[in-house]
Amino acid sequence: MQIDQLRSAMRERAASKLTFRSPQAEDGSDIWQLIRDCGPLDDNSMYCNLLQCDHFADTCVVAEIDGEIAGWISAYILPGEPDTLFVWQVAVAEKARGRGVAKKMLQDIVSRDCCADVTKLKTTITKDNEASWALFRAFADRMDAPLDHEAHYTREDHFDGDHATEHMVTIGDFGARKSAAA
Ligand SMILES: CC(C)(COP(=O)(O)OP(=O)(O)OC[C@H]1O[C@@H](n2cnc3c(N)ncnc32)[C@H](O)[C@@H]1OP(=O)(O)O)[C@@H](O)C(=O)NCCC(=O)NCCS
Repeated sequence: MQIDQLRSAMRERAASKLTFRSPQAEDGSDIWQLIRDCGPLDDNSMYCNLLQCDHFADTCVVAEIDGEIAGWISAYILPGEPDTLFVWQVAVAEKARGRGVAKKMLQDIVSRDCCADVTKLKTTITKDNEASWALFRAFADRMDAPLDHEAHYTREDHFDGDHATEHMVTIGDFGARKSAAA
């Protein structure tokens, strides 16, 4: 890219408006399309994304740039673990990447009233998804929280050999690194 083009892209980005909100049922089909465009994420049925938007709106987030959907996180409070937010999928449209959208979406969810008792975040990541590891490490730093991981859903035991092993990542307790240092 030429320097002038770069400058103009940076000006455009600075002028664009990034906002976050809970989803509504009507967002389901747009979210479904965003996820299809965001390899290596697994596709879901459109109905699955619709239910996430409708039933799990409190713990899911949509990011919009100038009113257009550019990012999505599906998440829920783990059944039986009211202190733990489980993040299912994170998707940011290619043109919106690298400007902190995913990290800000995570922060948006954990700062909501429904997450007042949440002190930990869990998610699963395959070994090769560098962007995802970088995102959750950056989030752990932001939350002053330790990050642990171990193989959890394995290729042979859970995916009939068809999907790479998913490593369970646990971030928490939030603030624990700061209090350990004090
Ligand atoms: C992973 C993904 C959601 C990141 O979105 P994003 O908005 O670009 O991420 P952010 O800008 O918030 O970056 C968060 C951190 O991760 C780092 N990061 C992001 N993408 C990266 C990449 N491809 N390689 C290395 N580091 C990366 C950033 O530098 C930042 O770290 P910092 O805060 O220390 O500077 C996006 O690349 C995506 O949608 N990928 C395809 C789907 C996917 O793999 N989702 C994750 C699995 S659920």
